[in-house]
This record gives sequence, C-alpha cells and structure tokens, in this order.
Amino acid sequence: MTANTRSDESGIDLDDIGTNPTANPSFTDLIASRLSRRHLFGLGVGTAGTALLQACGGGGGGGGGGTSFPILPPAPAPAPPAPTPAPPAQQAPLKLNFNAVAKSLDDVVTVPAGYTASVLYRLGDPIAAGVPAYANDGTDAPSTYDRRAGDHHDGMTFFGINASNKWDPAGASRGLLVMNHEAITPLFLHPAGQTVVGGVRTVADEVLREFYLHGVSVIEVNKVGNTWTYKQDSSFNRRVHTLTEMAFSGPAAKTDYLKTKYSTDGSKTRGTLNNCANGTTPWGTYLTCEENWAGYFRRIAANDDKNRSTKEKASFSRYGVASTGRELWATVTPDTPDDLYGRWNTEVIGATATDDYRNGHNTYGWVVEIDPFTPSSMPKKRTALGRFGHEGACLGPVVVGKPLVWYMGDDSRNEYIYKFVSTKNWDAADIGGGIASGDKYMDDGRLYVARFNEDGTGVWLELKLGVNNITSSYDKYAFADAADVVTNARLAADAAGATKMDRPEWTAVNPKTGDVYVTLTNTNAASRPITKTSASNPRYYDDKTTGGKSQLGNPNGHIVRFADDNADPTARGFKWDVYLFAARSTASADVNLSQLTADNDMSSPDGMWFSHAAPGLLWLQTDDGAYTDVTNCMLLAALPGKVGDGGAKVITNVDAGTPRTQNTFVGKAPGTEGLRRFLVGPKDCELTGIAESGDGRALFVNIQHPGEGTSDIKAPISHWPDGGTSRPRSATVVITRNDGGLIGL
Ligand code: FEO
Ligand code: CA
Ligand code: CA
Repeated sequence: MTANTRSDESGIDLDDIGTNPTANPSFTDLIASRLSRRHLFGLGVGTAGTALLQACGGGGGGGGGGTSFPILPPAPAPAPPAPTPAPPAQQAPLKLNFNAVAKSLDDVVTVPAGYTASVLYRLGDPIAAGVPAYANDGTDAPSTYDRRAGDHHDGMTFFGINASNKWDPAGASRGLLVMNHEAITPLFLHPAGQTVVGGVRTVADEVLREFYLHGVSVIEVNKVGNTWTYKQDSSFNRRVHTLTEMAFSGPAAKTDYLKTKYSTDGSKTRGTLNNCANGTTPWGTYLTCEENWAGYFRRIAANDDKNRSTKEKASFSRYGVASTGRELWATVTPDTPDDLYGRWNTEVIGATATDDYRNGHNTYGWVVEIDPFTPSSMPKKRTALGRFGHEGACLGPVVVGKPLVWYMGDDSRNEYIYKFVSTKNWDAADIGGGIASGDKYMDDGRLYVARFNEDGTGVWLELKLGVNNITSSYDKYAFADAADVVTNARLAADAAGATKMDRPEWTAVNPKTGDVYVTLTNTNAASRPITKTSASNPRYYDDKTTGGKSQLGNPNGHIVRFADDNADPTARGFKWDVYLFAARSTASADVNLSQLTADNDMSSPDGMWFSHAAPGLLWLQTDDGAYTDVTNCMLLAALPGKVGDGGAKVITNVDAGTPRTQNTFVGKAPGTEGLRRFLVGPKDCELTGIAESGDGRALFVNIQHPGEGTSDIKAPISHWPDGGTSRPRSATVVITRNDGGLIGL
C-alpha cells in the first residue's frame, strides 16, 4: 500500500510504522568501516553462469524441473510434469527491446508501442455462476462478496493447468491465477464510505463486505485466440478471506500462544488478511504472506495492560498491537454467536484464554499455504517461518537432494530480512502433494535473520532458543520455548543482532546467478536519521518535490542484493552490494548513485520478480509516495548483473547540518540497456503483483487502489478502469505483445 494509505488516528501510515526500539545496527555504531574490495568479492561469488531453478512469486515455473531451466549440478533433473518448450532466449544474452514509456500523471495504463494491456479481473467481479455483475456503487449484496474479486490486488502466481487438470508449469493457455487482496479502500465499497457513529460501525453488512474483500482469489483463466478471460463458473474458483478456517502447523501450533475461544487447543483460526506479497513451493502450492495485520486488532492499552504480563506487553509493543482497530470491526453490536466481530478485540475479557480472543493477534502474521488445485483444502499457517510483517516468501534454488530455502522481508521501517531452510531435502516425488508436502518441508527447519556487515559481507543468525542471545535471560524478553521464538520472531531477531533495513519489501532470486534481491522501499528521517545510516542503508538526502517540499531520509529507497557463500542457499554467510538506488534523474550524484535517466528513474521499489520464461529478466514495481509529483507508479524491466559487478563507494549525505560520509558498495549502473520503464499506471495507484503464463507470452500485472486518496465519493481522483464517472477498482491487467512474442525482449 502507498504512503498515503490508511492512517491510524494519530495520522501514522499503517503500512510502515516502525516498532523497533533496539539499538541494533545502524552499523556505524558498531564496526569500524573497512572498505575491502578483497574481503567483499575476493571469495568468489557463486557459480556465475550456472542457471538455477527457482520459483518465487508470480511464476508457475516450479520445482521438480517442470520448466526448462537447467538445475544446479550434481542433482539430476527430476521428471517434469509435462513436456516443456525450450525458452528461446536462454542461450543468447537478453536484450530489452521496447521504447521506454514516459513518466505520466494520466489516469490510464500506458505500455510501449507494440503491446496491448487488457483488464482481466476487477474488484467485485463475480467468480461463481449466478452472481450478478458488480454494480460498483455500494449496493451489491454483502452475501455475494465471498464469490467476488477482493479489493487491493497484490502478490500473484500463475499455475498452468494441463488437460488432466493437474499443475503444468509450462501451461501457456490455461491456468489458475492466484492472487492476494491486501486491503480495502472503504470509500468505494459502500454507498458513501463506512458508516461510523461515535467510533462505532453501525452497519454490520458493510463490515461483512470488508471481511470478504480481504484474502486471496483463485480463478481459472483461459486464452482464446489472443484474448485472456477468467472463467466465471470454474470449479477451481475460490475465495479465501477473513472467515475461512485455517489450521496451524509448526512449532507454535497447539500451544498456549494460539489458544482462543474459537480454537481452545490452538490448532486453528479463522481467516487471513493484509496479504501482501506471495511465494510458491516446488510441489505446486501458493504462499500468501500476512503483512500489516497488527492494525486490524482492537487493543486499548489503557484497558488491557493491567491484565498482561511483562512479556506480553513487550510483544504488543514490538508488533504495534495497540489501537482501536483500523476498520473498527470489533465495534459491531450485537455480535454473532460465533464472535464474528468480537474476535477482532484482542483484549483480556473472559476468565481464561479459551474464553476470549486475547491471543487473537498471535494467530496472524504468518506465511499461509494454500493448495489452489484442491478447492476444499484447508489453508495452513506455517509457524516455522516466523511471525512478523511478512511481505513475501521467495523460494530459492531448488535442487533434488538439497534443503529448500525461502527468503523473506519484514516490511516496517527498521525491520529485518529472514530466510528459512528446510530440514528435509527436496524430493521431486512430492510434486503435486499439496498441503501434505508442505507439512514435510515447511514445519521443520532453521529460521535465520540477516546481519549486513559494513565490509560487504553478511551473516545469517539462527533464531533458536539457546543461541544468539535468545534465552530466558535476554534482558528485553525472556524466551521460553521454540513456540515463543517463532511467535515473537522480531524480538528474537533483536536479541541476535540483526541489521535494521529501510523497509524490506519483496524478495527475488535471479535464476541465472542465485543472487537474492530485496527491495528496501524507503524510509524517513524520523525513523532513520542521518546519524543512523549503514553501508547497506547508506543514503540520507532531501528529495525535494517540484513544488519545493522537503522529503528527508531515504524517500526513494534502494534494492540490496546478496549471494550466499559458495552459491549455497543454506550457507551461514553471504556477500552483498546495492543493485540499484532509486532516485529522480535530476538528483545529485550522491543521491542518483545508479545514474538513472528519464527513461528509468523511479522511486520506492516494492514488487520485484524474475521471469521464468526469460531467465535473467527482472521486473520492478513501484509503490511510491515521493515521486508522485511527477509520475504515477510504474513497472520497469531490468537485466541485472551480479553481486560485485560495481564497486566500493564513499558517498556524502546531507542534512540541515554538517555533511557526513558513508561507505557503501554500489552495483554497476544499469544504463537504459539494463533498466527501462515498461508501464505507467493510472492515478493514485500502486503497481504490485506480477506473473506470467508458462511460455512468457502473457504478463499479468496488478493495479492496486487507483484513486486511493479520494476524499469525496462524488469526485474520485481516478475512474480507472471503467472510465466515465465510475468509481475506481483495483484490477489485474494482462499484457501481450501484438506479434505474440516474449514480453519486454
Ligand atoms: Fe504491502 Fe509492504 O507492502
Ligand atoms: Ca508491497
Ligand atoms: Ca510498499
């Protein structure tokens, strides 16, 4: 969500509230800088040129060698689920082959000449037989919303389907499109926005709509001729939302932390929400990641703190659970017998934890696995991957006989980057195993958090009771057991000494090199002042708007990347550099460090995904609130190099006072050959969520919350996609090349 997205009563952006009070680095405080090129790059960086198989985020390219990517030696390629065509661009170096789209403030989607962008799936579109078309004026029956597209389309994966209705990563004309619906723009959902009287939601039906509009869609999409449509009456179609029953697995399942009146043994909960970025598994399931869940819960500290332990209060503080609840869902009366509304109140009310929802907040903040091929299957929250503000979970290289790895960001200011390494080694026989395969690989493993050293190296710190200061005697939080560690993963990461980053968003793994990329979307001066820069979060500047408004901190963000030692995703060490610094092309050399031009300048990278059909092609999406005086949010195509292709750099940061120098490592400047703007979205939107058909000839992109900043329902800022005087709608767009070729190349 964008910076101007919903605010709490104090006016703080709900997307990025920092709740990290630790003195964790900011490594300028900790280590003398050593600009050692030898130390950074002299150890060798993986096996450059060896193509790796990976399958995070938007792609149907799956493990098991289902696509045509080569696999790391020595593992043999497992049998693919279906015959696959060779990717045409694999041998020759990739080359961007389109004219850059100009920055724009228009209320349209613009793509390069020779391409067509078509709207596929909009907020409210029906996904079951008999559900009427969306009126889009706030009058649609609330009871139909469990069979309509949700709001705020976000992370997305295309799963190709073969004639036997099984997963086929090469599927090019039929598939399941699975996508997150992160949040809502309430003004456009009801006749005239939310009905709130004296801080209370007085129309229960409005709240029911909102329950259904969060979560995940599974829709069948088909290509007929050159046109993609979704199939309204497909038996695969499904909505997962805040009322869907879910199971817990992993270390926190069936422990006291997750016991509620709804599930007195802590084995289940209802729903998922604020589903931001996503991930995949090599056995063919979807991962949805719960990001800004904390703000949905009502907990008035003045009422509740007296009933809480010191540890509970520390946890609430670290996760930011202290508000009236952003949508005021808990205020609806009377409640239902199954506490549909009261469950959002996470205060102590009853005698014990099984009499109320005092632990309700602990049931959110997880990575959730959904099997899209089995619509009746119950989603599972995988607690071994930790509880935080999950942005996405990108699967690392998949090698038969080796552990599986997922890389994850925690999106708030000053939060951390994590990875999970499975205990079990990958066996391609588990393809198609659904949730049972997830039980094998995702419930047992090691959770790590990243420390980025000032010298260009890094360390993965294990989050486990008894190591890295994670003990009962840690002075900020007395850890009790394994369930405590994963449930309070942020506190464990604090104890371990992780590096605070400038809001980690999406993670992506380059299939050509194995390098892992993380978007650090932005931060501000209050959260990370000039005195708290570090080599991996090095810039502090005043990004002045064309109107002369100051924007201090790192309002444009950057993209860090790292290579695990010896190209081994299970390694405990890595080398890093900054692939890209986002900036206005007109900014000074110490700000525009990647030398961006009018064809590729940008701000606030967020969505990020490597193509499977064209290994090495990277897509970048922006969620910007800083450069919006000049342009709407955008999608860019990139051909990045590898960790270490640039060099060490000393930059000068400027505040109102004395300039300060900061060491960093800057990747090779991309030039327009390596980075080019491909699409600009409509007014007040965010670009997020991206996937491609198995042949790479259809690119699916989500346009989230056009017109979000509208305050007068009679005058929406945007009328996209339906035009005229219509209310704007989040929507999926499908992009094809008019000659049927690969997108962007
Ligand atoms: Fe939902 Fe971190 O963006
Ligand atoms: Ca995001
Ligand atoms: Ca964002």
